[in-house]
Amino acid sequence: MAEPLIAVLNGPNLNLLGLREPEIYGIQTLDDLEAVCAEAGEQLGLAIDFRQTNGEGELITWVHECRGRAAGIVINPAGYSHTSVALMDALHAVELPVIEVHLSNIHQREAFRHHSYVSRAARGVICGLGFSGYRLALQAIAEIVEQEA
Ligand code: DQA
Repeated sequence: MAEPLIAVLNGPNLNLLGLREPEIYGIQTLDDLEAVCAEAGEQLGLAIDFRQTNGEGELITWVHECRGRAAGIVINPAGYSHTSVALMDALHAVELPVIEVHLSNIHQREAFRHHSYVSRAARGVICGLGFSGYRLALQAIAEIVEQEA
């Protein structure tokens, strides 16, 4: 049987990982993160579609494309977490298991980061664990997909 496809979607400014506020986000790059997800996917028997965009509309379009195609979504919506009702609506609309990931612990940071619209559409939220958060999210999605198959 084909491996379940999991979309790993990354929002704005995550293309600058490694350069951007390294004291918060670390020195590893988006390519390094993609490699971590690819390795986790291999170990878990998942096919990974890893993407990053700076555009809210593009992120929403990618979520729509997951309907009927992907078995689940791991998403770091970055700044759109805190602002985008439209992204939350899209994630509700596709009716797939969603795990929200943040590299930093958003609850330790500025008050405006403490609320995420996306969390309302997520089965679970992982924050503050850096790249490991993505590995753990993929493990959680693998278990959910297996249980609900
Ligand atoms: C982030 C946290 C967000 O508040 C921020 O806007 C980001 C990255 C994280 O991964 O820690 O861009 O999602």
